[in-house]
Amino acid sequence: MAINAGRLWKRLMELGEIGRRESGGVTRFSFTEEERSAKELVVRYMREAGLSVREDAAGNLIGRREGSDPGAPVILTGSHIDTVPDGGKFDGALGVLAAVEALQAMEEQGVATVHPIEVAAFTDEEGSRFGFGMLGSRAMAGTLRPEDLGHKDAEGISIADAMRSAGLRPERLHEAAKAPEQVKAYVELHIEQGKVLENLGAPVGLVTGIAGPLWQQITITGQAGHAGATPMNLRKDPLQAAAEVLNYIYAETAEFPNAVATVGKIRTHPGGINVIPGEVQFSLDLRDIDEADRNALEGRIRDYASQVCRKRGLELKIDLLQRVAPAPSSPEVKEAVACAGRLAGLGDLPELVSGAGHDGMQFSGKWPIGMIFVRSRGGISHHPGEWSSEADCGLGARVLYHALLRLAR
Ligand code: HGY
Ligand code: MN
Ligand code: MN
Repeated sequence: MAINAGRLWKRLMELGEIGRRESGGVTRFSFTEEERSAKELVVRYMREAGLSVREDAAGNLIGRREGSDPGAPVILTGSHIDTVPDGGKFDGALGVLAAVEALQAMEEQGVATVHPIEVAAFTDEEGSRFGFGMLGSRAMAGTLRPEDLGHKDAEGISIADAMRSAGLRPERLHEAAKAPEQVKAYVELHIEQGKVLENLGAPVGLVTGIAGPLWQQITITGQAGHAGATPMNLRKDPLQAAAEVLNYIYAETAEFPNAVATVGKIRTHPGGINVIPGEVQFSLDLRDIDEADRNALEGRIRDYASQVCRKRGLELKIDLLQRVAPAPSSPEVKEAVACAGRLAGLGDLPELVSGAGHDGMQFSGKWPIGMIFVRSRGGISHHPGEWSSEADCGLGARVLYHALLRLAR
């Protein structure tokens, strides 16, 4: 078999050392020293695979293998090398390195394609640093707006300033956009990050669609005060309201068949043990493959939160961080992946929906998109315990290899 699973694994483990923490987890945020070192390593792998390598105006790292028709639209693949805080070695990294491995195998086998193939390591897919994700893929899709670069990290550094510190020029971001006719299709390999494939005993799956994430920052403002001297019934405590709203969020989400809701960050201000909070701020991540359901849930939460705050005489502010529509996979890419699964000796691949978001969502509606999933042990991800076996990663790369060939011929 052309795919060298051992080489892929060695590269995954080597890349996983950059940004590794005591916990064994990996933290690699965009426009940081860790990301720069990781990029240098991936550039080396891309060169070893015989690819021409460039970085576009958004910081997307792109490796290209020519086809017999250089003017033909490219087959785009790839994923991301940034991580969440204390994340795993496979999320994003597998999609980039498996694509490099597939192109290296084509090179070593002397396999020719008509269409050129490009593998991209997209900038800031996770959105961990600035609360705004899929930065590089939005730029390539041409949907990034100047105001998006105003999102700030915990130190108050904006995306635009962080880009400048990494040697990029935000005013040239439009150059990263690809025109509709420049891309034939996009296919991404990724770990499943859930338990479906493990429960089925299947190493690889075909993704039928990607659930849409909606991210908000909710701020409730009341009045700080003395913990001892202020009777309970005379308080304007935003945390009490937040507690009511959180309970409602979890209960109401259960009313929707596929919806999920996560509050990953919460903080009180001024944050003193003996001080009644004056302000509470928390993040909300709502997702569903059905956009109507997600919007209905969003509306119910907003209405309930306004009602609770009105009742308690508190101020409510809801800031939208990102709203990404669910993205169905395209028939032609699904067909290519299904065929690739059979060519890889896996028979008919099980079909599943992605609960996680991915860069390909930014291309949905512009180019045909699709994804291939690799089994995740225990469905664990965004955690140091994130794991997929060397064999499964190799099988995933094999399916990607055949899917790319099918799309590029
Ligand atoms: O958040 C996500 O869904 C992905 O891991 N970026
Ligand atoms: Mn992730
Ligand atoms: Mn990912």
